[in-house]
Amino acid sequence: MDTSSAFDPRDFRKALSMFATGVTIVTTRGGDGAAVGMTANSFNSVSLDPPMVLWSLAKSARSLPAFSAARYWNVHVLASGQDALSNRFARAGEDKFAGLALDDCATGAPLLPGCSARFQCRSAFQYEGGDHVIFVGEVVGYDRSDLAPLLYVSGQYAVAAHMAEPPRAGAAPQAGAFSEDMLGYLLGRAHYQFMARFRPLLAEKRITDPEFFLLSLLSVRQPLAPAEIAAHMADTGFETGEPALAAACARGLLRRDDDGYRLSAAGSDTILHILAAAKAVEADLDGRIGAPQGSALRRLLKTLVAASDQGLPSLWA
Ligand SMILES: Cc1cc2nc3c(=O)[nH]c(=O)nc-3n(C[C@H](O)[C@H](O)[C@H](O)COP(=O)(O)O)c2cc1C
Repeated sequence: MDTSSAFDPRDFRKALSMFATGVTIVTTRGGDGAAVGMTANSFNSVSLDPPMVLWSLAKSARSLPAFSAARYWNVHVLASGQDALSNRFARAGEDKFAGLALDDCATGAPLLPGCSARFQCRSAFQYEGGDHVIFVGEVVGYDRSDLAPLLYVSGQYAVAAHMAEPPRAGAAPQAGAFSEDMLGYLLGRAHYQFMARFRPLLAEKRITDPEFFLLSLLSVRQPLAPAEIAAHMADTGFETGEPALAAACARGLLRRDDDGYRLSAAGSDTILHILAAAKAVEADLDGRIGAPQGSALRRLLKTLVAASDQGLPSLWA
């Protein structure tokens, strides 16, 4: 059946990209012994007994002759922090292995460190697959780590986030009570736990929560007129009228100029200290949840911020 003109190629690719995959780098040695490798998400398991895997390579790929002739190749399932490595091996025409330390491998094929899993394969079969060649290999060795895998879906890298656990049997939330899966509860608790880490510094500097928000706002954008301050802080529930601003000036945190309110030198110094403490807390938490999860979380929170926005003026535009 000739389907070459039946599909819009871009749309077809888009449809295929809805299938989420991991990302691998497949490596081998050329006839001259040079290391060869390329990024592939067409990897899949085939058979458990005997253990076999497959992946497919574009006939236009520069590495095709090397893989066609190779007796052995290695498949590296990339970890979530290896997106830059994936990009490097997806670009033609650069020395992909420059500066990379390789692990020893009995088959002689290049073995990259720091992956979620690695499969050492003997090339078993090659099949015609349209504009690709399908390689099937017998797995002669493998190893794995606890590193979370890198994912690829709709043309973008992603990290795996497991769905929320279904509620435990018999743990149905009581009507009229907060449940542990309520978004509001989770956001509120995370917020307070985050703030608790640098609250001693706020106390030491005698900065109240409304003052903290006010100083943070002006550290991003100043000067701001009273109406602008009120608009930016509208959803905080804090009093931001002229008396509160005058009080902050009297405490030496702000200065009122003709064009609006600015941080005073002391206010600027105070918020810099607090910001440094908040950033240290953030770095610690990023380390605990893992940078890729942190990046996925930021993206989800931005979606939530956009979905819950009731028209705040944009701060960073
Ligand atoms: C996430 C991702 C997955 C890819 N998967 C494949 C694949 O399965 N097969 C393929 O031929 N090319 C795939 N590519 C493109 C190749 O990595 C790219 O064309 C590379 O330059 C080929 O290297 P070479 O020309 O040196 O052989 C993929 C690229 C990316 C970014």
